[in-house]
Amino acid sequence: MCGIVGFTGNRAAQPILLDGLARLEYRGYDSSGVATVNGKLYVRKAIGRIAELRSVLDQQPLAGNMGICNTRWATHGNVSEANAHPHLGGDGAIAIVHNGVIENYDALKRQLQGQGVQFKSQTDTEVIAQLIAANLKDDLAEAVRKTLPLLKGTYGLAVVSPRFPGLIVGARLGSPLVIGLGDGEHFLASDASALVGYTKKVIYLEDNQICVLTPDRCEIFGADQNPAAADVHALDWDPGDAALGEFPHFMLKEIYEQPDVIDRAMAGRLDEAEATAHFEGLNLDPAQLRQIERIIMTACGTSYHAAMIGEHLFEQFARMPVEVEYASEFRYRNPPIDKNTIVVGITQSGETADTLAAIRESKRKGQRTIGVCNVVGSSIAREVDGGIYLHAGPEIGVASTKAFTAQVTVLTLLAVHFGRMRHLSFHAGRRILDELQAMPNILRETLRCHDQVADIARKYQAASNMLYLGRQYLYPMALEGALKLKEISYVHAEGYPAAEMKHGPIALVDEGTPSVFLVPHSSVYDKVMSNLEEIKARGGPVIAIATADDPHVEAKADDVICVPSVPEYLQPLVTAIPLQLLAYHVALLRGCDIDKPRNLAKSVTVE
Ligand code: AGP
Repeated sequence: MCGIVGFTGNRAAQPILLDGLARLEYRGYDSSGVATVNGKLYVRKAIGRIAELRSVLDQQPLAGNMGICNTRWATHGNVSEANAHPHLGGDGAIAIVHNGVIENYDALKRQLQGQGVQFKSQTDTEVIAQLIAANLKDDLAEAVRKTLPLLKGTYGLAVVSPRFPGLIVGARLGSPLVIGLGDGEHFLASDASALVGYTKKVIYLEDNQICVLTPDRCEIFGADQNPAAADVHALDWDPGDAALGEFPHFMLKEIYEQPDVIDRAMAGRLDEAEATAHFEGLNLDPAQLRQIERIIMTACGTSYHAAMIGEHLFEQFARMPVEVEYASEFRYRNPPIDKNTIVVGITQSGETADTLAAIRESKRKGQRTIGVCNVVGSSIAREVDGGIYLHAGPEIGVASTKAFTAQVTVLTLLAVHFGRMRHLSFHAGRRILDELQAMPNILRETLRCHDQVADIARKYQAASNMLYLGRQYLYPMALEGALKLKEISYVHAEGYPAAEMKHGPIALVDEGTPSVFLVPHSSVYDKVMSNLEEIKARGGPVIAIATADDPHVEAKADDVICVPSVPEYLQPLVTAIPLQLLAYHVALLRGCDIDKPRNLAKSVTVE
């Protein structure tokens, strides 16, 4: 999931490239590099964070008004300067940055080596570079065109050459590329957040398209090599959206943005008069809506947990059967799906390879697909039959927080939308809309638990294993809380249905294994309290996330985090905040990199 930025214009490229790269560092960050053309080709690389590259460039700045750069998430070859992008072909005839995986790179590499080509890296990207150089005559775009059919796999790539000053050639298959349109300048990036503040007009390249950029020219060609028409989209993010502001980390900023984010997720979608919700881009008329009898929700990671909550919401409000599938599993199964089933892909980035593949497989079978997505113009957003944007703004922290609560909010509205087409009464619909509209302030109130959670994190920071336990709507939250802790603090944690831990995991319980119980007042409160007592009886410390002023929990748990009292279907939104803050503070205390956890990337665009 590398980050790519390209620029060609009439001003210095280096600062623009570095600024864009810093915005994409969350996509992958084990090494980085930049190439500019200024009469000759100049390349600088560094392993580690972008700051390492910045210090190299402070010593040896690069001139030139055109260049490309990359921040890498290693897929082939270890983390080394030799494997960092850009990669050169033909001894510097071209330079390339690439996001994706070339599955047949080994065979191609051996073929080139047989022709005497010397490789300097272990990467698949260098194979592309050498192929383009071998095909280069007097047209860089033509050399790229000749090379692409040889590649099996995915790519979002940008190529420059000292022989063609000012020219950048981009190509896309399976990994996103977005063009930024400027006045006498053009940009290319693997996602739009790198372009915020530089342009408000973007074009999302489609698969099998090539773009040719110079300061005054932006041409896009289809697989048939003919010029392709392209829609220009407005980039509605502001520079502040992708800025840290007064927060120490993007993750904390995005946790605190959640009240406003769920407000935006509802904005313009509530229909008080009809006690329902409406969505612009769903592209389902009432008759089509009524025909739908089953829903499959497919996603990965945190978005999968949102889908699990969506299952409860649709069962409760629309009385509809929902099946939740990991996209990576769903895409390779061949489940019987009837014509009255729709597939809902839930994703923050809109680029997750497994979710995109699951959507494509569903469409191949003629299934209607809906996307719930945060990034406008992303691959999934453009390939589904209908979609709902989260409007959560760029989510920079690798650990998803505000996108998750926005997904849950959108799924609640979607369940009301479907429910009001079926059995959900006007009164019930109005009650839900009223309760939802109170949530931004309720989340602001919930954020007041911050200091208390930080204290609890200090108490348990040394734990090497934790259990997260909840039931019904809060079982997905147990999974989400465990994932948050794992992915940013590297502490092993497991989420379980609270009752299920009796069937084995309770063997893990000892005084060094804290259990986080999600136990606000609910229809299963007594059952969860029994499970809490079973853990206490075995000496396991208990951190309870509970409704304020609950004497039973206070008497039994070692530590209690209070959340406001809300209906069960809204408890995922309020419990998300202490779970996110607990993971944040444990990670902070353990000296982990909050926004760029090891081994991870924000958008998993490879299988
Ligand atoms: C969430 O904290 C993780 N970073 C990860 O599990 C993420 O949710 C998953 O990769 C899916 O990403 P998506 O929502 O962009 O599809």
